[in-house]
Amino acid sequence: MSFIARSAFRQAARAAAVAAPARSFSALARSAAISHVPRAAAFKAASSQTRTIKTINFGGTEETVYERSDYPPAKLQETFKNDTLAVLGYGPQGRGQALNLRDNKLNVIIGCRKGASWDKAVSEGWVPGKDLFEINEACDKGTVIMNLLSDAAQSKLWSEIKPYLTKGKTLYFSHGFSVVYADDTGVIPPKDIDVVLVAPKGSGTTVRNLFLEGRGINGSVAVYQDYSGKAMERAVALGVGVGTGYLYETTFKKEVFSDLYGERGVLMGAIQGLFVAQYEVLRAKGHSPSEAFNETVEEATQSLYPLIGANGMDWMYANCSTTAQRGALDWWKKFHDASRPVFEELYASVEDGTETRRSLTKNSASNYRSELEKELAEIADHEMWRTGIAVRKLRPENQK
Ligand SMILES: NC(=O)c1ccc[n+]([C@@H]2O[C@H](COP(=O)([O-])OP(=O)(O)OC[C@H]3O[C@@H](n4cnc5c(N)ncnc54)[C@H](OP(=O)(O)O)[C@@H]3O)[C@@H](O)[C@H]2O)c1
Repeated sequence: MSFIARSAFRQAARAAAVAAPARSFSALARSAAISHVPRAAAFKAASSQTRTIKTINFGGTEETVYERSDYPPAKLQETFKNDTLAVLGYGPQGRGQALNLRDNKLNVIIGCRKGASWDKAVSEGWVPGKDLFEINEACDKGTVIMNLLSDAAQSKLWSEIKPYLTKGKTLYFSHGFSVVYADDTGVIPPKDIDVVLVAPKGSGTTVRNLFLEGRGINGSVAVYQDYSGKAMERAVALGVGVGTGYLYETTFKKEVFSDLYGERGVLMGAIQGLFVAQYEVLRAKGHSPSEAFNETVEEATQSLYPLIGANGMDWMYANCSTTAQRGALDWWKKFHDASRPVFEELYASVEDGTETRRSLTKNSASNYRSELEKELAEIADHEMWRTGIAVRKLRPENQK
């Protein structure tokens, strides 16, 4: 463990003793300025109760947040007592959301093609002809069509799904992709249905696991088309039904722009680029693979990032050695200035649909799988990630 990490841990222990609480969302929500705003007209429950929403001050900006305590299971069952929720696809999201809806005792059915997803659904208790159907049959039976096919399949199968979207039904997505980039996907919903979005902020496996632990994942909620006049109310209820805890209000466009931007940026694309660049310079200057990896990836993911996640970057800067602190304060703006133009270019590429077109073309190509494997192998074969395999084995938790 390097100087900065030792120092961080020492000071973390000290700071914990003087109460530097990890800012979980619930703690944040409790401490932030929360106001309860009745929205009688726009947000009435099926029982005619007036519902409340919360306005939370996030760093100076007021935002609307819905929470699952507004929808206990009995309320969900009442809201959807006349509905059949048809979940299309049994990938990570379809599986996680459908199992949570079933455990919430809602009337849910699955629609998927025969193959891996179908077999998985059968193995988890869905019964063909009872609550597991081919996609067109599920669309016919469903009043809420929850389109959790892969984004490429949503576009490919749109002409088969659309005829079943009859007046008064609800079309649900977990990504704004298909609707926002309609010029490229062809997904243009009929005008006489509700179109809503609930996007859990994590994989379907996490959606399921947190639900089983009695907690809810955070999610985004949006309405694209409100035909019934109750689209937001029903979207929030669906969000709670599929297992979210807090729902942040957004739009389809903002959801998809931020999602495509983030995963290409700091979540995966930018971080891999930074890791490799830092590692390469260390190796070129004669540092060993283990030293270069430890200073680049291991210390970041195992020590600093969890602390930053728990306490914020200001806390991290305040709780490291003065040497590390001086250097990080001097250098962060240089990295900012160098990367800002790349982020601008990335956002423009998301905004004008370039990223979507590339994704649709690449992901529906017949050689998709073999090309992907080549690109993943290039990352896996890089000395840095091969070094990572050896380093991870030496972690205390991986030793017998
Ligand atoms: N993964 C995440 O972290 C995440 C988070 C939030 C939102 N979302 C969104 O949730 C939605 C579903 O994501 P996912 O990760 O669960 O999707 P996925 O794994 O990419 O695919 C889900 C389903 O699509 C089916 N499918 C693919 N091509 C098909 C075709 N040509 N015909 C019929 N079925 C086909 C798959 O069936 P087979 O098994 O038969 O191929 C599978 O059941 C997407 O809109 C995604 O953007 C994902």
